[in-house]
Amino acid sequence: MNYPHQPVLLNQTIEFLNIKNKDGVWVDATLGLGGHSEEILKRITPGSLLIGIDCDEESIEIARKRLKHYKNFIPVHSNFKDLDIILAENKVNEIDGIIFDLGFSSYQIEKSGRGFSFLVNEKLDMRLDKRQDLSAYYIINHYSKDELDKIIKEYGEDKNHRRLAELIVKNRPIRTTKELAEIAIRVNKKEKRIHPATRLFQAIRIEVNNELDVLEIGLRKALRYLKSGARIAVISFHSLEDRIVKNFFQKESKDCICENKKMICNCNHKKVLKILTKKPVMADKDMIKTNPRARSAHLRVAEKI
Ligand SMILES: C[S@@+](CC[C@H](N)C(=O)[O-])C[C@H]1O[C@@H](n2cnc3c(N)ncnc32)[C@H](O)[C@@H]1O
Repeated sequence: MNYPHQPVLLNQTIEFLNIKNKDGVWVDATLGLGGHSEEILKRITPGSLLIGIDCDEESIEIARKRLKHYKNFIPVHSNFKDLDIILAENKVNEIDGIIFDLGFSSYQIEKSGRGFSFLVNEKLDMRLDKRQDLSAYYIINHYSKDELDKIIKEYGEDKNHRRLAELIVKNRPIRTTKELAEIAIRVNKKEKRIHPATRLFQAIRIEVNNELDVLEIGLRKALRYLKSGARIAVISFHSLEDRIVKNFFQKESKDCICENKKMICNCNHKKVLKILTKKPVMADKDMIKTNPRARSAHLRVAEKI
């Protein structure tokens, strides 16, 4: 069956996970429609377990049906920031590998009707998890000009952040993706390389789903549970996420993280990771041709010492 999401860097990620022919516990922290999970399930032993986490209930349901023949698969509707709770509930003390394929799926953009894209006109929402209250509608219509300015600058890195914030406040109420995108098109009319609303939409989506904070928490928790020799693979889709992953891997692969290199180290930090991808793995031209989402994908992998 064709699923409305083509997994990115699938073979590379699965190979890096280095799945061995012995029982273990694996985690897909971003199950989505189950593309990566399916390949993991094909390779792990029947006595192994795969826990697939997603905060989007609709995606979980699709993946649950897709993978229903696998008795060793447990789908969990939750946020990966609660990895410790999820593992405790499943009586798991350590894991043999974990993958994070961040962001949102093509299904969520094209079919969920939650206003993730400026290319389709939908109500402003952008919640990955529909149980939460904070939505794009609330942020756009209730945040102050300064608050909007700050998130568009920090999470969107849009140089016209101030003007965008001003126009959003002036044009309220803004109810749809089209209304919001039109403001960005007006402000960023000289932008040729990417759609003028790309950065604004990224900023709002990050704020709605608290994406950067939960990534830091998820990575830290994953590290705590990885067995020695087990691997963590992270696919990110924009520079803010990739920077977090890169800095986290670098910090955890160093013995000393004292700010200024002093004669005597007093941080007592010990390295716990070995980085396996000096540079991020990226999609080649052919892959991008068949799957344009792969264009911005960066895969980084590390192994617990
Ligand atoms: C790129 S898709 C994953 C696609 C999946 N690898 C596949 O092959 O179908 C990212 C998924 O992660 C989920 N997600 C994003 N942030 C999350 C979080 N903090 N906790 C749990 N799931 C999250 C999204 O809802 C989305 O379904």
